[in-house]
Amino acid sequence: MDKVAVLGMGLLGRGFAENLRSKGHEVRVWNRTASRCAPLAEQGAIVAETPADAVRGADRVHLILTADEAVDAVIDALRPALGDGVYVVDHSTNLPAKVKPRFEALRAEGLRYVHAPVFMGPANSREATGLMLLSGPSADEAALRPRLEAMTGRLIYLGEEPDKAAKIKITGNGMLIMLTAAMGDLFKMGAASGVSREEILSLFEQFSPTAAGMGQRALAAEDRPVGFAMTMARKDVGLMLETAGDGLTVLPAVAQAMDRAIEEGDGGKDFSVLATR
Ligand SMILES: NC(=O)c1ccc[n+]([C@@H]2O[C@H](COP(=O)([O-])OP(=O)(O)OC[C@H]3O[C@@H](n4cnc5c(N)ncnc54)[C@H](OP(=O)(O)O)[C@@H]3O)[C@@H](O)[C@H]2O)c1
Repeated sequence: MDKVAVLGMGLLGRGFAENLRSKGHEVRVWNRTASRCAPLAEQGAIVAETPADAVRGADRVHLILTADEAVDAVIDALRPALGDGVYVVDHSTNLPAKVKPRFEALRAEGLRYVHAPVFMGPANSREATGLMLLSGPSADEAALRPRLEAMTGRLIYLGEEPDKAAKIKITGNGMLIMLTAAMGDLFKMGAASGVSREEILSLFEQFSPTAAGMGQRALAAEDRPVGFAMTMARKDVGLMLETAGDGLTVLPAVAQAMDRAIEEGDGGKDFSVLATR
């Protein structure tokens, strides 16, 4: 069994620590607000008072913190007690532009930092399901894969660039968040026109365009006959705006982007070129 340190007992960190404990690992936890460690102590984790105490003697370290500022502060605090060659695996969702400089600076000083952000909610981290991304040296992937795979449903290795996982992670979150905002517009349009949320969900159980499908359509748009012209799609957006009234989030910005595209001569193209202009 491994000696594992988990720093950050927020929604995800707590789940990771619980899962590691349930598999019999020796788990040391630390959190800035100490009271959040209490449930883990009940499950047999050792609660450390400082990041350094948490990582002393650990085989590997997991960080699951808000973002870069917390990551830098906690690494500074833990490093005096970190053993030689011990991986520090950071699962926080970070700014890509900060991940590569951090990786390079820490590696130059001999600290084995890797970034492995996740598409996992609290239940996923407790149950070791969902997706984990990893990028960086392939030797690190080989060393870490069995341990990281045990913490998630699927580990996707994205190659040597240390910040690739950070970039792909925010891309995925972008879709999640934009789709949610788009659903909000459709619910508002439904409310204004007497269509229930259940009826809207029922439509999307049967008619469900995918992100990948729409992306492929956009990439092929210049080479294929027009299926749905920009001017016709803009007409439909006008119908939506008129039906919904005020208070929409996404569609007004889409209407503006379409108007620009039409002004610039793309009115006769497939509407999907909106994604590639
Ligand atoms: N929740 C999700 O569904 C989900 C899904 C995928 C990815 N993520 C990512 O996973 C990370 C953690 O998310 P979460 O939902 O677990 O968040 P959370 O519950 O808000 O936990 C954030 C953690 O960061 C710590 N922290 C913040 N600033 C700090 C600082 N300056 N120094 C030390 N510790 C600090 C917090 O400590 P305190 O308790 O003292 O505030 C807490 O332990 C984030 O990067 C998030 O974007 C979350």
